[in-house]
Amino acid sequence: MKALILVGGFGTRLRPLTLSVPKPLVDFANKPMILHQIEALKAVGVTEVVLAINYQPEVMLNFLKEYETKLGITITCSQETEPLGTAGPLALARDKLIDESGEPFFVLNSDVISEYPFKEIIEFHKGHGGEASIMVTKVDEPSKYGVVVMEESTGSVERFVEKPKLFVGNKINAGIYLLNPSVLDRIELRPTSIEKEVFPKIAAEKKLFAMVLPGFWMDVGQPRDYISGLRLYLDSIKKRSPERLTTGPNIVGNVLVHESAKIGEGCLIGPDVAIGPGCIIESGVRLSRCTVMRGARVKKHSCISSSIIGWHSTVGQWARVENMTILGEDVHVGDEIYSNGGVVLPHKEIKSSILKPEIVM
Ligand code: GDD
Ligand code: MG
Repeated sequence: MKALILVGGFGTRLRPLTLSVPKPLVDFANKPMILHQIEALKAVGVTEVVLAINYQPEVMLNFLKEYETKLGITITCSQETEPLGTAGPLALARDKLIDESGEPFFVLNSDVISEYPFKEIIEFHKGHGGEASIMVTKVDEPSKYGVVVMEESTGSVERFVEKPKLFVGNKINAGIYLLNPSVLDRIELRPTSIEKEVFPKIAAEKKLFAMVLPGFWMDVGQPRDYISGLRLYLDSIKKRSPERLTTGPNIVGNVLVHESAKIGEGCLIGPDVAIGPGCIIESGVRLSRCTVMRGARVKKHSCISSSIIGWHSTVGQWARVENMTILGEDVHVGDEIYSNGGVVLPHKEIKSSILKPEIVM
């Protein structure tokens, strides 16, 4: 089987992290987002993943080369010269997606995190005999997503409305699809949206089916959702493979610590914390609801909550970093500094406190 991951877009809502790498390479729970997807695809027998990309393809390919051999999967790029939206890239990659087998292929948005129940979607797709299957999930605030109205018993989609202004329902498109090759005949090679131009038409012909996604789901393309997504992800790990989480007297709730990270004496860590490869957490540090990415150092007695510490950054002694502070790559926060929601661009040194949420350039 094959899969296409929609990787385009600049990831502006996840700046400053996406100033260093394309969004799919931003670490989530200690490894790049896209690796969570590629590993899950491989597990259900996908042999080739096509990345539909319109920016920095070299960075992605160089990074993923290593994983092609490690995972035994082919990863190729289909590069746009202009952004083709969420459907145009499928037309562009047409020859890569179709082969003699006539099998359906997966399409994923690159920023969605879930348990990726691909086996279940394959079964569902076989069962309904329609042209396309999409996964849906319930959310409290449906207006920022594609909303799906479906017949509960069969999954047949009656309506698909992208970013509705008025309330249509609370089941939304999770950005995970399994499509028959015939869907490609419906897409022209031009900038076009699968949500606005393709799904509504397939739904009108009663050939679009939706399955409620088992387990958790989150679009982690924005800082607040990224932090909520980490909580849901760790909860799910706790249920499925609790041995991956760290335990001990200084740990509260769900905490994921990379084996190469070092944690000093007298810290209190958790809940909902991910500490990446090579991080150093010095003694007496308090961490909750946060991500500390690869190579970062958190110095003695500092306190970090509801924040993201980018790759190779440092947080000084007795510093207090909270309220959706996002430090880009290689940021250095001085001793005793307070950051309340600072969004700090890469390679900065912070010498005075950030008292209210603002971007520091
Ligand atoms: N190759 C390519 N080219 N990819 C693109 C382009 C493009 O021009 N534009 C967007 N993408 C990719 C993004 O990188 C992302 O992986 C995916 O397409 C969806 O784009 P987003 O910008 O993240 O859309 P959204 O989050 O507002 O809405 C989409 O996702 C929701 C679920 O998170 C829609 O699919 C909604 O219907 C859905 O509910
Ligand atoms: Mg998104």
